[in-house]
Amino acid sequence: MHDGALKPCRTILSVPGHREKMHEKAATSNADTIMLDLEDSVPIEQKEAARQTAIDTLTRLSFNGKGVNLRINPPDTPFAYKDLIAVVEAAGSKLDTVVVPKVNHEGDIHFISRLLSGVEAASGLEQEITIQVCIETAQGLSRVTKIAACDPRITSLAFGIADYQASIGTGLSSLSGHGEAEEEIYPGHRWHFPISRMVMAAKANGLLALDAPYGNFRNPDGLKRSSDLASALGCDGKWVIHPDQIDIVNQVFTPGADEIQRARQILEAADQTSFKGAVAVDGRMIDLATVRLARRVWRQAVQLKLIPDKDVLNH
Ligand code: COA
Ligand code: MG
Repeated sequence: MHDGALKPCRTILSVPGHREKMHEKAATSNADTIMLDLEDSVPIEQKEAARQTAIDTLTRLSFNGKGVNLRINPPDTPFAYKDLIAVVEAAGSKLDTVVVPKVNHEGDIHFISRLLSGVEAASGLEQEITIQVCIETAQGLSRVTKIAACDPRITSLAFGIADYQASIGTGLSSLSGHGEAEEEIYPGHRWHFPISRMVMAAKANGLLALDAPYGNFRNPDGLKRSSDLASALGCDGKWVIHPDQIDIVNQVFTPGADEIQRARQILEAADQTSFKGAVAVDGRMIDLATVRLARRVWRQAVQLKLIPDKDVLNH
């Protein structure tokens, strides 16, 4: 199980594999992680070229401590096995994570994981490459509990909204990843169930849960609302598709000063009571569940270097 020792993952900036100019911009952006995409942002006729461009980028650029992900094509396409072998052989030491789209079954992950083991061994890679699983089909969501637990390489699950929508057949009345007219179409949050279902499977296995991107990149208010909803449902971060989206999403998934102060108070109160039971802090009940939540906020704040060094070891 992977716990809080992962790199921060508030924003994952997707960059089309064949758009070399964008790669430099992504590498110097404020995103926590960048994802070189070989899948749906790349036209079929550019698949081979994108693979080579991704290798060049990984070899050439410095990513300044960011997470570096590669989204390969879906496991059952003619591209996936070549994506994996070619990029990991040539530049595996630069990669943190392989992102596997349209995962329907544990077998998809077993296939990718075994292949990774072979390429890692042949290339002498010391650091094991992790897997991010995209849950974006009805089949994938229906098996998400089994998929999330099927391989120790998995560190995160990501919701793919447009493909999920296509998979369940909602029509084109609102491209939900773009957020248009959502409130008119459905009373409430249309994606509450699939996101919560995925979050539950992720957290039950100590994994991060990541929300889908918000497609309308000229609408900062819609993006903020979509990020707030994802955060309230337990997501740890969100994919983004445009540099203008990074700061808004980072901010939503960064614990605020008030939240950190409250976590500090709760952890201090918990220390005093040695976790013996419910106590009151500022007129509100705290119990062990509140303490766990506070500890999570604290760990996240430590990871993001928001806590002064002298306080880091206190809780
Ligand atoms: N990563 C890095 N840089 C990006 C970027 C991205 N995802 N999206 C845009 N940029 C850059 C542009 O190249 C441009 O750079 P410049 O000022 O040096 O010319 C700048 O940001 C402004 O871009 P803008 O003109 O507003 O948008 P665009 O029309 O160039 O691109 C998209 C719009 C949607 C085509 C582009 O954002 C994109 O391809 N996003 C990623 C799509 C993707 O990965 N989809 C699959 C995952 S869901
Ligand atoms: Mg998709």
